[in-house]
Amino acid sequence: MSRLQVVSGKGGTGKTTVAAALALALATEGKRALLVEVEGRQGIAQLFETEALPYEERKIAVAPRGGEVYALAIDPERALLDYLQMFYKLGGAGRALKKLGAIDFATTIAPGLRDVLLTGKACEAVRRKDRDGRFAYDYVVMDAPPTGRITRFLNVNDEVAGLARIGPIHNQAQAVMRVLKSPETAVHLVTLLEEMPVQETADGIAELRAAQLPVGRVIVNMVRPAVLDEEDLRLLRDAPRAAVARSLSSVGLGGARRGGTAERLVDPLLAQAGEYAERYALERAQREVLRGLDLSLHELPLLAEGMDLAGLYELATELRQQGIS
Ligand SMILES: Nc1ncnc2c1ncn2[C@@H]1O[C@H](COP(=O)(O)OP(=O)(O)OP(=O)(O)O)[C@@H](O)[C@H]1O
Ligand SMILES: [Mg+2]
Repeated sequence: MSRLQVVSGKGGTGKTTVAAALALALATEGKRALLVEVEGRQGIAQLFETEALPYEERKIAVAPRGGEVYALAIDPERALLDYLQMFYKLGGAGRALKKLGAIDFATTIAPGLRDVLLTGKACEAVRRKDRDGRFAYDYVVMDAPPTGRITRFLNVNDEVAGLARIGPIHNQAQAVMRVLKSPETAVHLVTLLEEMPVQETADGIAELRAAQLPVGRVIVNMVRPAVLDEEDLRLLRDAPRAAVARSLSSVGLGGARRGGTAERLVDPLLAQAGEYAERYALERAQREVLRGLDLSLHELPLLAEGMDLAGLYELATELRQQGIS
């Protein structure tokens, strides 16, 4: 099982939610997972119903049967200062740099540098060991940028190549890439059973593969329960209206008389069934496309009551049952 699990996907498909559920699932039974946010939007804090995360690792949840989830919202500015500090021993000069807007400057002339710092911080957490020589975290789960930007984000080597051919930035990028391109890393993609996100998933996988980044699993989120199956749909399609009306009356819906309420319920009911049949066919087609990607495929239900902490644990349990951790 890869120790760095990166979660990407089309915007709004549930990256943050799935990353959090995955961290809980991986931490289950006495493990320790770090959930990392790189986009600075405090989505994790919101999800766990806590105050905004500072730029330091803190315990955010207890996983089922003992286990801990820590969280970190990486701030690129702080990461840059840490980095300069580490290599150049800047001390107070770092604070002066900050005031001068050097960080804006540095990240503007070298946008890749920002990504090296963000991925670098996550890789550092993956490699970190405690005093006994054990890994500080069993798993690091990253709530990563969306599919459209993920390959570029992770491919920091290419990004900094023109910027630093030698020196500490170059070495840092090399070290990061060694982790990211190894089996220690898996990049998962979250999607919905809809045409656009599925297409984006397929494109994203092709891009990641072309960049030799390790693609992990595909997680279909917000899957609606199947109300009717193929057989039900066939019956409905072929059902004579009169028979439908009779069935409705027989269960006490509308009067038994001709022209009664039951009769008037038939059309809306058949229309709804028609819509459902259409959606069913669409979803089935998208599922087929996803199966064709030849990756481990998982499905998480749409939580009808909306997302809350209890729902998050429910999704974590679901992931474990599907053998994701
Ligand atoms: N399985 C689910 N059931 C119900 N609601 C869900 C589920 N998964 C996610 N949501 C809800 O969908 C919305 C989007 O989820 P989330 O914020 O995790 O997506 P995201 O991909 O991280 O979005 P962004 O691209 O904005 O970062 C949120 O309101 C979340 O609570
Ligand atoms: Mg998000």
